[in-house]
Amino acid sequence: MNKKIDFLRLKDFSLIELHKILAKAKELKAGLVRPQPFVGKTMAMVFEKPSTRTRVSFETGFFELGGHPIFLSANDIQIGHGETIEDTARTLSEYVDLIMIRTFAHSKIKKLAQFSTVPVINGLTDLYHPAQVLSDIYTVIEEKGRTDIRFLYIGDGSNNMANSLIDVAEIFGMKMYVASPTDYEPHNSKNIEIVKAKDLAGLVGNMDVIYTDVWTSMGQEDEGGERFKALKEYQVNSLLLENAKDDIIIMHCLPAHRGEEITAEILERHNSIVFKQAGNRLYVQKAIMLYCMGEV
Ligand code: CP
Ligand code: NVA
Repeated sequence: MNKKIDFLRLKDFSLIELHKILAKAKELKAGLVRPQPFVGKTMAMVFEKPSTRTRVSFETGFFELGGHPIFLSANDIQIGHGETIEDTARTLSEYVDLIMIRTFAHSKIKKLAQFSTVPVINGLTDLYHPAQVLSDIYTVIEEKGRTDIRFLYIGDGSNNMANSLIDVAEIFGMKMYVASPTDYEPHNSKNIEIVKAKDLAGLVGNMDVIYTDVWTSMGQEDEGGERFKALKEYQVNSLLLENAKDDIIIMHCLPAHRGEEITAEILERHNSIVFKQAGNRLYVQKAIMLYCMGEV
């Protein structure tokens, strides 16, 4: 029997494998193929945190591929009432063909994958959001036609988005800069340049993409005040973008907190592609699901 394919972190895959997924996403988006290999199959979607984009794009995607997605809010299933992740994994594997989960500790999804006999897809953990960033590099390729770009992430460099984008940079060859305060730097700063707020004015003019994310991620709500204080010089606003190239693109995984990490003006400006970015998740995640199920 072939080894099951889990999608937990981008670095578990080679560049060739990821390009295969991206090529399938492109076919799907173009409407060239409308496969329905999931007829008669089900996917469990476990959410321990809220979601708009991830939930709706995975649910719609699995349905369009012919299958039946089951949305499971943690509070409504026993995992939210003390049942272990190991028992949940083994139980769900008896019923469904695929599991997608949004949870807290990354170790939890690893355990789920270890104990389940069906593929597991990461819909965000505290450490990584691989489905989001694979879709983001798809959007970058669509916009720029290449991946050897200069990419600046500004804000909380220690969160799931920053850590996943660092994986993207390493795999796809982007030159990546992370601008964040000292206490909010990425876990792994190999192959990237860490810069501070004072360096930004001189740097922005060379950038192809600026990306930001919330200062307070889900589960960190109690730290809101101190985070706001530490990160306030790291806002994406018109002053920051004064010397930016005309064709710079502004990206954000959403949801955005206008007036915190990004101003409303910039989010709504022509070079902000955040809704196109959100839209592409449908196609890329369909391709991820097909890949995990051995259909790509
Ligand atoms: N970007 C993203 O994952 O959004 P949701 O939290 O709405 O799923
Ligand atoms: N860093 C954010 C991403 C949301 C998609 C969070 O974890 O809340």
